[in-house]
Amino acid sequence: MQLAQKIVELEQALAIADTDGKRVGFIPTMGALHKGHLSLVKKAQDQGLFIVVSVFVNPRQFGEGDDLENYPRTLGVDARVLSDAGVDVLFAPSSNEVYPASGVKEISAGELGALFEGTVRPGHFDGMLTVVNRLFNLVQPDVAFFGSKDAQQLMLVTQMVRQQVANGDREPIKVVACETVRDEEGLALSSRNQRIPKDLIPAARTLHKALIAGSKKKTKADCIEAAMAQLDPIIRLDYLELVDPDTFAVTEGVTGARMVIAGWVGEVRLIDNLLVGGV
Ligand code: PAF
Repeated sequence: MQLAQKIVELEQALAIADTDGKRVGFIPTMGALHKGHLSLVKKAQDQGLFIVVSVFVNPRQFGEGDDLENYPRTLGVDARVLSDAGVDVLFAPSSNEVYPASGVKEISAGELGALFEGTVRPGHFDGMLTVVNRLFNLVQPDVAFFGSKDAQQLMLVTQMVRQQVANGDREPIKVVACETVRDEEGLALSSRNQRIPKDLIPAARTLHKALIAGSKKKTKADCIEAAMAQLDPIIRLDYLELVDPDTFAVTEGVTGARMVIAGWVGEVRLIDNLLVGGV
């Protein structure tokens, strides 16, 4: 595996892939890698792609209370894990590489970016789309892989790419939604889980239990009630809703809806989602 910290190093690696006629698969991450990330790598490998993984803790998607300083940074371990997994290039740029003084396009997530995660993390999705767009421009992938746990992020990236392709602003990128990877009792894997105190893990797991119970019901009121009944009372809920998976508009209907949940377990904020009727 090649470690590229400079854009020029990334470009050299990509030129070799191009000469070899390989299609590029890209997995953007903020590091602190876990099995969820590795499942994305596996997906890319199954498609025979030249795999680039980026590790960049993007300051622009952190808000004031978001604790950018304490976000886990484990580049040495991440590099070993990715190398063992057979990744071709680890792109781990500095902030100066990603955000030079000029020339980086700011992307707005618009109204969709102000819903749900956007209500509690203002500006988060603008920062996320700005860095994903920048990384897409640098890596020029054919296929990009995202986890479904961050369903709103996945929807916004999909829509951004669709719009840019329609405008003739970029070559098509296939955005692949990958299934959420969970621990043995259903807790969605996340870099944040490292910060959940051990004694609160059972409470954290009730997020998924709530989604399972809620997603089996036939009316919205029943979905919400069944989900709430499973939720550990220690969890401070930010939202529990049914949304249209393509627009994140709140829906009263149950068929085809996605149940989304976000809540605090102690000092750690977790999100998860499940398709209603999907289990
Ligand atoms: O999901 C993440 O880890 C980040 O939002 C991403 C896509 C790497 C952009 O910084």
